Amino acid sequence: MFRTKTCGELRLSDVGSQVTLSGWVQRVRKMGGMAFLDLRDRYGITQIVFDNSSDAALTDAANHLGREYVVQVTGTVAERTSKNPHLPTGDIEIIAGALRVLNPSEVPPFTIEDESDGGDDLRMRYRYLDLRRNPVRRNLELRHRMTMEVRRYLDSKGFLEIETPMLVGSTPEGARDFVVPSRMNPGQFYALPQSPQTLKQLLMVSGIDRYFQIVKCFRDEDLRADRQPEFTQIDCEMSFVEQDDIIELFEGMAKHLFKEIRGVELTEPFLRMTWADAMKYYGSDKPDMRFDMRFVELMDILKGHGFSVFDNAEYIGGICAKGAASYTRKQLDELTEYVKRPQIGAKGMVYARVGDDGTVKSSVDKFYSQDVLRAMADAMGAAPGDLILILSGDDAMRTRRQLCELRLEMGRRLGLRDKDKFACLWVVDFPMFEWSDEEQRLMAMHHPFTHPKDEDIPMLDTDPAAVRADAYDMVINGVEVGGGSIRIHDSELQAKMFEILGFTPEKAQEQFGFLMNAFKYGAPPHGGLAYGLDRWVSLFAGLDSIRDCIAFPKNNSGRDVMLDAPAELDPRQLDELNLRIDIKE
Ligand code: AMO
Repeated sequence: MFRTKTCGELRLSDVGSQVTLSGWVQRVRKMGGMAFLDLRDRYGITQIVFDNSSDAALTDAANHLGREYVVQVTGTVAERTSKNPHLPTGDIEIIAGALRVLNPSEVPPFTIEDESDGGDDLRMRYRYLDLRRNPVRRNLELRHRMTMEVRRYLDSKGFLEIETPMLVGSTPEGARDFVVPSRMNPGQFYALPQSPQTLKQLLMVSGIDRYFQIVKCFRDEDLRADRQPEFTQIDCEMSFVEQDDIIELFEGMAKHLFKEIRGVELTEPFLRMTWADAMKYYGSDKPDMRFDMRFVELMDILKGHGFSVFDNAEYIGGICAKGAASYTRKQLDELTEYVKRPQIGAKGMVYARVGDDGTVKSSVDKFYSQDVLRAMADAMGAAPGDLILILSGDDAMRTRRQLCELRLEMGRRLGLRDKDKFACLWVVDFPMFEWSDEEQRLMAMHHPFTHPKDEDIPMLDTDPAAVRADAYDMVINGVEVGGGSIRIHDSELQAKMFEILGFTPEKAQEQFGFLMNAFKYGAPPHGGLAYGLDRWVSLFAGLDSIRDCIAFPKNNSGRDVMLDAPAELDPRQLDELNLRIDIKE
């Protein structure tokens, strides 16, 4: 038997018992004639004591163990004289009677401690060693517990977990596909699913009624902290439902997760905000609602006073930072530099401080009377001690996005974005379409299967850009953790949607004929949602990047540096697949 106990479970009540443990050598400390071995496994660390005076050969063997050796120890559990309150096993130690090296280890390339000395790249290359570290392993344990709770919740609501294929057809909407050549069908390719969207809709046509799947999705898009090329969705679909039914069920799931995993009981309904309000007041479709600091439009008050920057602006918006009037010139210059960074692109920033006596002092005082500045401060709800920050520009949408970045930065500086605080929000009434400059046509904002709002359907013919959809996102702390919609279940409306998106009837038939045909055979009204599992886990774990909750993630260039993938193919393999490589410079 390799072990009778794990390294995390022995307590005072076990004192006197004979045990066998197996694990990894965290470290060995020599002290006089004694050796202290910290033995580690997934469950914890236990101290093993070797005493020269009772067994010199055994103590010598312990002193020769290297870090990360795999060893087996048998001994007697004893109460420690100097207890370690930081370790769950800190009250006891094991007086070693036998030691067996199960496998030696080379010196690991970085220290396997909570705070490692290894850089990102090195830890990724040796990810299997990185996963031995507590913080990383804890994220995987959290992920496991979350998927268990998801399954428990959805099972209790009558959902069936059904797998859908990974080798599917390429679809033109959305992100770029990862494709897979078919040997048996020369010159033809599968695509890996960006999501099981159309398949889950077909399951509704099949009468499955409530489907879910914890499923890998693949998207060839630029990576960010919250994006991986392969990621996991909790993908769900339901029949005979309206938007509110779906929101209620998945808000219930969110509350279930908060309660079971974080011990947080959320009793109030989640806030709901229309997409239009989110853009107007926060400049984003995923506002961080841990703090308010909403935008106030100042065109009426600040235009026409001879300050040409504002006079020529289409949009002037301000935010009020409570209690920040004490910001120094240096801090304000830093903020100005922040919004002028190329990623944000503002031309400049105007500020105003509200003094203790209520007078307003701004960086553009020479253009504005105290009355106008006071009117502005009133419009912003600014009180003595507050700081007002203003951006302007000739494109309202762009300026709002810049103000959004400034708001988030200010929230961060003021400590309003605490990782242990959660603000959950539904953003609803998304526009059906958005204009693509690249494609020079309307594109579906969510996806082409999304149902337009009933009252907006007549506008599909007259003003499609104004049509709103029955589409919703769940946003927590400024992160889009999920999204979904009510779907079109009528083949004619679906065909019309493809027409607006610029598909010829032939092209629509070729790409999506399977779905439109299915809709001719009794498709129930249906809708659904997909949560991003990686984002949920990283939110609950307080991580900055979803990478840290994925066992084997890709780096920022989409590479797996451990497996060294992607890589070139062997010429024989290329030949079999009828592929010829022609890399453009
Ligand atoms: P959507 O594209 O909004 O919807 O994706 C759903 C959720 O998946 C997560 N997500 C990602 N997570 C990590 N890396 C990525 N690259 C990534 N892309 C998306 C987000 C997002 O909210 N079929 C629809 C869902 C539906 O309508 O039911 C869909 O895929 O948390």
